[in-house]
Amino acid sequence: MNKFLFLILFSASLIYSDKSFTMSKADLDMYFKEALENNPAEIDLDEGGQAFDKKIGEAKLAKYLGVSEDELPKYMAGFPRYVEKAGIVLTIDQLAQALLKANGKKVPKLKKLVTMGLYMKSLANDEKVNVDVNANPQMKEMYALGKKMYDERRGNRGMSCWGCHTSKDALGMRLRTQVMVDISSKARASAATWPAYRMAKAKVITVASRLQQCQKSSGQAVLPQGSREMVALEVYVTELSNGATMAVPGLKR
Ligand code: HEC
Repeated sequence: MNKFLFLILFSASLIYSDKSFTMSKADLDMYFKEALENNPAEIDLDEGGQAFDKKIGEAKLAKYLGVSEDELPKYMAGFPRYVEKAGIVLTIDQLAQALLKANGKKVPKLKKLVTMGLYMKSLANDEKVNVDVNANPQMKEMYALGKKMYDERRGNRGMSCWGCHTSKDALGMRLRTQVMVDISSKARASAATWPAYRMAKAKVITVASRLQQCQKSSGQAVLPQGSREMVALEVYVTELSNGATMAVPGLKR
């Protein structure tokens, strides 16, 4: 897209749809600093850990994935990945669902599932993100689809993920109080820090929900969670953070 056109589209999108986001920048900075010291998501992590231990446990998780318990942390840092028992590429939230089902447990409401997924992801903390998009044909296919979804301009403003997160014209620009960030930056470690507590929403959300919020605020059709396209986007976005150190729960404005 030529630069001029991009800027017009860009300024037309300045009304960010996060209505709950009404704090002044100074208040927000202070709130953020406090929350950094004491991430509210720690409570969710505890809850998720208790539910996980009660319903599944690490031994069953390792068995389902076909790895030893010692290998679990590194293995969990490679999600989304193709899981043989499921026959498809799974995100960690989908893995939580699959495990509950495989163990004859009821799949809980979304909020509980999110906290359980958060805990399962935290098992990989301090490991490096290692999504292998060439591991098998299934991952290759999902990566290619994710890249297409990422680059493609969609919606009534013709915006793409690429346009806000990779294009040199956009990076560093502001959208209301938010700066366009390079999600492939190793220092930022974007995908290594989700699920995160998002202050604008006052709750823990998964990376899939974050992508949906980006889709909504940029006028793109919001893709359903768990859809092939959404999982593919998560594969693509997570691969961008390969090599970054896992640290969940994150804390985001
Ligand atoms: C209109 C511009 C815009 C578009 C289009 C857009 N985003 Fe975003 N995105 C943002 C902003 C602004 C943030 C918040 C950055 C922050 O946390 O400071 C963000 C945050 C993110 C994050 C979290 C970054 C982090 O470090 O925590 C990810 C991942 C992401 N977007 C992926 C996507 C994907 C994938 C798409 C396409 C479906 C997309 N975005 C489309 C503006 C956009």
